[in-house]
Amino acid sequence: MKEERLIFIADKNDFLPRKIANKQCRMNSNLSNSIRQNFKQRFATEPLIARSPGRVNIIGEHTDYNNGFVLPAAVDKSIYVGISKREDDKIILYSGEFNEEHESTVCTVAPTDKHWPNYVLGVVDQLNKRDYAIRGFNLNLDGDVPVGAGLSSSAAVECAVAFALNELYSLNIPKIEIPEIGQKTEHTFAGAMVGIMDPFASVFGKKNHVIKLDCQSLDYEYVPLEIEGYKIVLLNTNVKHSLASSEYNTRRKECEAGVAIIQEAGHDVNSLRDVTMEMLQQFVQPKDALIYKRCKYVVEENERLLSACESLKAGDIEGLGKKMYGSHDGLSKEYEVSCRELDFLVDAVRANTGVLGARMMGGGFGGCTINIVKEEAIDELVEDLGKKYKQAMDKDLTAYIAQTADGTSIVV
Ligand code: GLA
Repeated sequence: MKEERLIFIADKNDFLPRKIANKQCRMNSNLSNSIRQNFKQRFATEPLIARSPGRVNIIGEHTDYNNGFVLPAAVDKSIYVGISKREDDKIILYSGEFNEEHESTVCTVAPTDKHWPNYVLGVVDQLNKRDYAIRGFNLNLDGDVPVGAGLSSSAAVECAVAFALNELYSLNIPKIEIPEIGQKTEHTFAGAMVGIMDPFASVFGKKNHVIKLDCQSLDYEYVPLEIEGYKIVLLNTNVKHSLASSEYNTRRKECEAGVAIIQEAGHDVNSLRDVTMEMLQQFVQPKDALIYKRCKYVVEENERLLSACESLKAGDIEGLGKKMYGSHDGLSKEYEVSCRELDFLVDAVRANTGVLGARMMGGGFGGCTINIVKEEAIDELVEDLGKKYKQAMDKDLTAYIAQTADGTSIVV
């Protein structure tokens, strides 16, 4: 089991775990080679290639845009970008995933109705706004980050593109600015008011480590992910409910409303990071029960993360797992960003002694649960849960074993 990687592929009508030794969907080197070949065929020139990984988050959900803490890690599934200079101002894009081309120009970039080009064009817009001078380019895009699974494929695209353009045009963008460019791209070209976690994890990821990131100061610490005998298993609900982006933005506003109530009471607070449970009970609870519930979750999630981090450092994986369940309960009942599929998957493993902790991961309303599972319990868990999930939800379950990886890089 040690030397092999597992993927489980859900067949149409039947859940079927398949063990594939030393071979994942497409190995990364295969993917960068195929990007290189396709690029040469399409654009008749040699590309520069950048890769940026997807991410998982151990604990600390919906805390980033509240200036709190998160604990993500980059994973071994990445977006790859092939790129070359053009003499004119044109941007010619090609997506392998959608098998589609899109054309624009550097000085007229604007959001399009097509979804995927926006994550590239938004980056160009950010570079323009920040006075990084670029000319036209050809770009092709591919990767093995599952789209819609909550592994942040869009942040990976943005960071790969920013990194590639930085290299191509020798822009000298400070590394810390790349995640900010990714985040702003989401705000301006995708309408999602996301926090900094996803692009930060993609750029700053480090193999065998999680990143304890303070989203207020952007100070970060690499914490070794020492979970000997256990693996991080992602269980994909294979649903993405349409509520996801509208409710995300609503939650952000609800948190701001909580901060505003405390400010009106005369306290000098800028975000939920500065807010205590006592303040919430005194000022917010009597005024607005819903806002109180949302803010209480965030304040408690920050505390949970700090204590989960201590557990991890002390080698107390059980303690870490318990806090993950606590996080899920808060997300489901107080922050209300879960859904029946996610709740089903978490509830189904609570009594399983092979699973130390589980919770929904990412923005919510679909995507994956993240589970810490004893290695020898993985096969049975996935097989059993796959059947139960199919029976209860009439949907297929997909499982990934997430391995940590280094952040954004140029592929040579
Ligand atoms: C999405 C956003 C992140 C973060 C999470 C929830 O992944 O992109 O910024 O807010 O949701 O923790």
